Amino acid sequence: MAKILLKRIFRPVYPTPAALIASVAADGTPNLITLGECFNISIADPVIVGLAIMPSRYSYELIKRCGEFTVNFPTAEMTEVVDRCGSVSGRKVGNKFAYAGLTALPSTLVKPPIVAECPVNLECTLVDIIPAGDHDLFRGRVVAQHVDDSCLDGSGNIAVERLNPLSYVLGQYWSGGGFLGNHGFSKKGKSG
Ligand SMILES: Cc1cc2nc3c(=O)[nH]c(=O)nc-3n(C[C@H](O)[C@H](O)[C@H](O)COP(=O)(O)O)c2cc1C
Repeated sequence: MAKILLKRIFRPVYPTPAALIASVAADGTPNLITLGECFNISIADPVIVGLAIMPSRYSYELIKRCGEFTVNFPTAEMTEVVDRCGSVSGRKVGNKFAYAGLTALPSTLVKPPIVAECPVNLECTLVDIIPAGDHDLFRGRVVAQHVDDSCLDGSGNIAVERLNPLSYVLGQYWSGGGFLGNHGFSKKGKSG
């Protein structure tokens, strides 16, 4: 097997979750943007997530002004709606929840709503915006997390096999494969 050096390096880290980020305008109109670049930065204490957003996006302006946003993780069944939210600006269509046929539910601690149809939702306050290149890095502190009761197991933990998350890989949408093992299974055996 030979290794070939690619001529163009583009979006090299994959897969990433496809995420719907909700923001809100000054008049209360909510907006949504599809992101392939949404990731954990600090995982427990504090919980900080990162978003990479292009300065030209309407959502960039709204999140910067409001200082808050929500992160909503769709299922693979929602691929078309995710693509719709990522193919037109809220500047053009107005309320993107209405445009995409999604339901806005009030958040508990922040102004932007959460997406009812997404099984997992994070409420976030903006920490800062760091210039990073063609996209800027938005760091957000997660102040609340919601999970559909149907996606919890008997112990109140997220039942991963019920999430059916949507992944973004090199410009394509993919759904997940199957369970391969728990973190650390190489030491302890698959279940544990
Ligand atoms: C699957 C997918 C992933 C995307 N990832 C990003 C991203 O990580 N950062 C970004 O700035 N735009 C990304 N976009 C583009 C925005 O979603 C798109 O420009 C959107 O229309 C912006 O909406 P707004 O102007 O209402 O904020 C992505 C689009 C799709 C379809």
